[in-house]
Amino acid sequence: MLVRNRVPAFHSLLASLGFRIFQRMPTVYIKTYGCQMNERDSEAVAAQLVGRGYTLVLDEKSADVVLLNTCSVRDLAEQKAIGKMQAMVGHSRKHREKQVFGYLGCMAQSRGSDLVQDGSGVQLVVGTQKFHRVADHVDALVAGRAESLVDVDSEEGSQSRLSEHLALNEGATRRQVSAFVSIMQGCNQHCTFCIVPYTRGRERSRTIQEIVEECRGLVDKGVREITLLGQIVTSFGRREMASVDGRSPFVQLLEAVHGIDGLERIRFTSPHPKGYGQDLIEAYGRLPKLVESAHIPLQSGSDRVLKAMHRGYTAERFEGIVAGLRAVRPEMGLTTDIIVGFPGETEAEFEETIGLCQRVQFDNAFVFKYSPRKDTPAASMEGALPEEVIEERHRRLLDVINTVGASKYDALVGRRMSILVEGVSRRNPARYEGRTRCNKIVVFSGGPRHVGQTIDVRIERVGTFTLYGDPAVLGLGLEEDLANGERGGRGVQVESVVLEEANR
Ligand code: SAH
Ligand code: F3S
Repeated sequence: MLVRNRVPAFHSLLASLGFRIFQRMPTVYIKTYGCQMNERDSEAVAAQLVGRGYTLVLDEKSADVVLLNTCSVRDLAEQKAIGKMQAMVGHSRKHREKQVFGYLGCMAQSRGSDLVQDGSGVQLVVGTQKFHRVADHVDALVAGRAESLVDVDSEEGSQSRLSEHLALNEGATRRQVSAFVSIMQGCNQHCTFCIVPYTRGRERSRTIQEIVEECRGLVDKGVREITLLGQIVTSFGRREMASVDGRSPFVQLLEAVHGIDGLERIRFTSPHPKGYGQDLIEAYGRLPKLVESAHIPLQSGSDRVLKAMHRGYTAERFEGIVAGLRAVRPEMGLTTDIIVGFPGETEAEFEETIGLCQRVQFDNAFVFKYSPRKDTPAASMEGALPEEVIEERHRRLLDVINTVGASKYDALVGRRMSILVEGVSRRNPARYEGRTRCNKIVVFSGGPRHVGQTIDVRIERVGTFTLYGDPAVLGLGLEEDLANGERGGRGVQVESVVLEEANR
């Protein structure tokens, strides 16, 4: 339902005369909560707005339009966005600013018009199938053609209406090396704890041709690495397309994207373990652009809990997938998502999760405390666990994940690794950073000329999720000389190398 409130007479008069309320094109601030899908949606919205002449700014206080792209996966994520909005609206009122505030995405979808109640100060609510309409709605609010807009309808074909990228905008100045491309929307798996099927709707895939065209356009602009995105990417196209010679539509998509000249690396997230058939495992053996990295959500190491979660695999099957992947690509970097404190999870079942993590040896994991979500089956299950038990299990599992992760990072010291340089480091603006094929961030002292290049670096020393390298010229086979004090003027000088810790 699209709700348009009546606009005050003065504003509508100005609008009908073609006046804009703002004298110049307004500035926009967008903050994103949650997953990479949300990041990608925000980027597409930003590209839309920039395409219409809006300017993106990093300071919400100076922005004419303030948009929060929200996440509903856990209550904490919703509370953070609501708290942030209230603080911004409060500040704006105090300083008598004229700002337009809006919520986008998953929480906007699930709470709808509740978010624009009297006094909230929020004028715009746009759901997950309407991101492509954000610029129209913002235009209307800025010009005073509407006082508030709530647009949370479902829309056929919306999965294909969001192909704008900042890198493709006219006059884009910064080279973007790595890009996200959304391949599908929604999820039909209905894991009993998960709100995503309600906020993102049923699975809807784009066509292979459309996706390849978008990827090709990005590669033409200098992108070298593409991450294919969806809530359950391994289910890509299974309603719309047939398997060919035992190869699922998702594997067919990987092959098509792999064929793009100039593209160096392909990643994807999030897959579902049930999507790791022999065809996908075998694809790693034959598609060199498919990097040695997989984020495979585990959720629990207990078969009873996995069943109650409606996950559709056993712990043994999960370990079989990992073994299969490592047989094809021994260097595979492996990360996962785990939930602790699912209703009824016993101490023994939790220990099964710990045991599995010790056997599988993940490079890292996101460990989530179970959070009951509106309308999900798990929210009304018996056996809710006390907060202290959930906290304690969270701490214990994180300890295991961190210890295993540290030992895996330690093992990289002395190794020479290939990184794709993405740009200035987000942690230290005096440095540059790149990413290994197995998805670890490496910070080094580089320069603008390295951006977009694939170079070799040598990992010298490791702290807690941090690697340090002594200055060395790399890529020339001269490391040993340099370690003995000789410094060359060619190649890449590496001062320090930091691998990112990703837990939250
Ligand atoms: N396949 C999706 C999953 C989205 S949710 C993706 O694109 O990532 C991301 C992770 O949040 C899940 O894998 C799960 O570990 C966690 N999660 C989902 N619902 C949760 C809940 N109710 N409580 C705690 N963690 C949850
Ligand atoms: Fe959620 Fe399970 Fe789908 S975690 S996104 S319902 S695969």
